[in-house]
Amino acid sequence: MTEAQIQEYRQDTPGVDHYMHFNNAGAALMPAPVISAIQKHIELEAVNGGYEAASIARKQIDNFYTSLAKLINTSADNIAFSGSSTQAYTVALSSIPFQKGDVIITTNEDYVSNQIAFLQLEKYKGIKLLRVPDREEGGFDIDAMEDLARVHHPRLIAVTHIPTSSGLIQDVEGAGKICKKYDCLYLVDACQSVGQLELDVEVLQCDFLTASFRKFMRGPRGTGFLYASNRVLKAGFEPNFMDLHSARWEAENGYRAVSNAMRFETWERSYALVLGAMAATDYALTIGMDKIQKRVIELSTLLRKQLEGRDHLKVLDHGEKLGGIVTLGVDKWSAGKLQAALRSKGINASIVWQGSALINFANRNLEWALRLSPHYYNTENEIEKVVRVLDTL
Ligand SMILES: Cc1ncc(COP(=O)(O)O)c(C=O)c1O
Repeated sequence: MTEAQIQEYRQDTPGVDHYMHFNNAGAALMPAPVISAIQKHIELEAVNGGYEAASIARKQIDNFYTSLAKLINTSADNIAFSGSSTQAYTVALSSIPFQKGDVIITTNEDYVSNQIAFLQLEKYKGIKLLRVPDREEGGFDIDAMEDLARVHHPRLIAVTHIPTSSGLIQDVEGAGKICKKYDCLYLVDACQSVGQLELDVEVLQCDFLTASFRKFMRGPRGTGFLYASNRVLKAGFEPNFMDLHSARWEAENGYRAVSNAMRFETWERSYALVLGAMAATDYALTIGMDKIQKRVIELSTLLRKQLEGRDHLKVLDHGEKLGGIVTLGVDKWSAGKLQAALRSKGINASIVWQGSALINFANRNLEWALRLSPHYYNTENEIEKVVRVLDTL
């Protein structure tokens, strides 16, 4: 990414004039085309009526599916819109016909809400949850995952690509190979990796992949998606409850699920936000995910390097491969006060609490961590400034 290109992307991003935004893992700053797509559709609705505006914009709305399919290398028929990553995740889980005694294998670093869903499946469906032990250097032990798969014949393996609470990039490709070998379903939480890393569902060999748009995709809040493979569509997996959009009421006592991934959607949604999510996807595609990935990793590596060797600050990220989330242990501050102090200096950052990373943080005796997550539109100058402010504080 050239200096001129970075400046161009910054000019497209009104937020950079106000704050140094290091909370892209929370919600990134939307670029102008995203903001304008949302505003234009709201105006269209105001003038024409909500249903009529949707008819006028129908072609563009349908492009949501084709654009996103291009981003993750699949077909429009394999994409479902959802209101969030968690919504997509729970809808996917609800479609798996678990039997009592079925095994789910996951990792210690999987997202908190996913862990809660697995525990609920344990409680209500009698599944057995197994977590893969970690390697000393961080991240799950791929050999241990294979051992568990061989012995327990899981129904599902679920892996979060980039955890919310660490810089770690988990080996989702390796887990995909294990799922293929032991013929089990594979669910990837790509909430923090989509828009940050190049993603290809064919390479991952996953059955489901979920994400939201507000994070590294730079889309609006309240939008997410689910990828469902042809294998699960052909097998007839259906979410717990469908509606007139995801299924057809064909006889008094019969219905039929639609054949594509729209069976995981429900009818109502904000089309302004769908169009915003589509604009965000097109924006990322135009820049190129290879360039975005390279820049995010460069900036986060630089940030970690600049923060080394401090007495009261410790970079917590560990793992063979690290991505765009930088987590820090900070002595002698309360989380809320530190976040507010940073904001008063023009820096947006977030706090991850132990409850979001229970196993990892409890093992390391951490109550919370400061999370800084640069994106490609951040600058080296901003990195220097944030380091200086942390030193001063
Ligand atoms: C790794 C990961 N998965 C899932 C989620 C949940 O996303 P949403 O809030 O869109 O449901 C998050 C949110 O931070 C996340 O970091």
